[in-house]
Amino acid sequence: MIKPVVIVTRRLPESVETRMKELFDVRLNVDDHRMDAAELAAAAAEADVLVPTVTDAIGPDVIAAAGPRLKLIANFGVGTDHIDVAGAHAKGITVTNTPDVLTEDTAEMTMALLLAVPRRLIEGERLVRAGKWDGWGPTAMLGTRVSGKRLGLIGMGRIGQAVAERARCFGMSIHYHNRRRLHPSVEDALEATYWDDLDQMLPRMDVVSVHCPRTPATHHLLSAERLALLRPNAFLVNTARGEVIDEDALADLLAERKIAGAALDVFQNEPAVNPKFLSLDNVVLMPHLGSATVEARTEMGQKVLINIKTFVDGHRPPDRVLPNL
Ligand code: DGY
Repeated sequence: MIKPVVIVTRRLPESVETRMKELFDVRLNVDDHRMDAAELAAAAAEADVLVPTVTDAIGPDVIAAAGPRLKLIANFGVGTDHIDVAGAHAKGITVTNTPDVLTEDTAEMTMALLLAVPRRLIEGERLVRAGKWDGWGPTAMLGTRVSGKRLGLIGMGRIGQAVAERARCFGMSIHYHNRRRLHPSVEDALEATYWDDLDQMLPRMDVVSVHCPRTPATHHLLSAERLALLRPNAFLVNTARGEVIDEDALADLLAERKIAGAALDVFQNEPAVNPKFLSLDNVVLMPHLGSATVEARTEMGQKVLINIKTFVDGHRPPDRVLPNL
């Protein structure tokens, strides 16, 4: 039997690549370089199945270049904002993703960031490492207590809810803004307060954390005007997508100390980081590590395998992504 040609754009965990080689005629990206637009178009022209990641722009040009064989884009990752899902769908190409298996990991990273800025973890570590620490002091490096504070979650899907569970254990009260209000039983379990109007929620929060997908509706959802609603002692955390925040406006607010701090795991033009952030000491910058655990990346790979195998066996894959209509 002829095996389907599966082109994988980045290195995946070894166990996943091994299983792929057993099952498919797989083309791996041995040196793990970021494929440019021409390489992605060539891959789309040749493959039966394309396995991209968040680092690949699978836009209308790549979809237009897709050959008649390309029937599945099995994304390694949950977010599909880098893929022209509507264009793929219109061309009869199924798109899948890897939900659920990175929820806990991303929530853990959010909690780490949510503590890192108010408690000045990175600043403290730098001080010690630079040999500049001159000992404990009653007024030295004072941060802000997290317990008892109000956490406002923008987006209350799987990851938002997993963050809410953890933040409650840290003594925070949970508030959220979401397209849809949660079922009352979920709200009760999380003791979460729903804010229909984001503009009403923002000025009342001590910490705001972003957990919505990037869509046309959420692009710069935290615009300059909205960011200006945050309190001067508020902290902002983003482990979702950089494009949800107007980064220039945020950098200006941080520089002028109009908000207390921010922690960002994602950026609008990754891997480039807005240079305005680099000189600020009240922002923590992370290289998109939300799902970066051995467990999550292995399980993401297993999901990709299941989606491909189910599809090539003639069934509907479990993690289909439909266009936002
Ligand atoms: C995702 O899955 O969308 C993450 O951002 C990358 O793992």
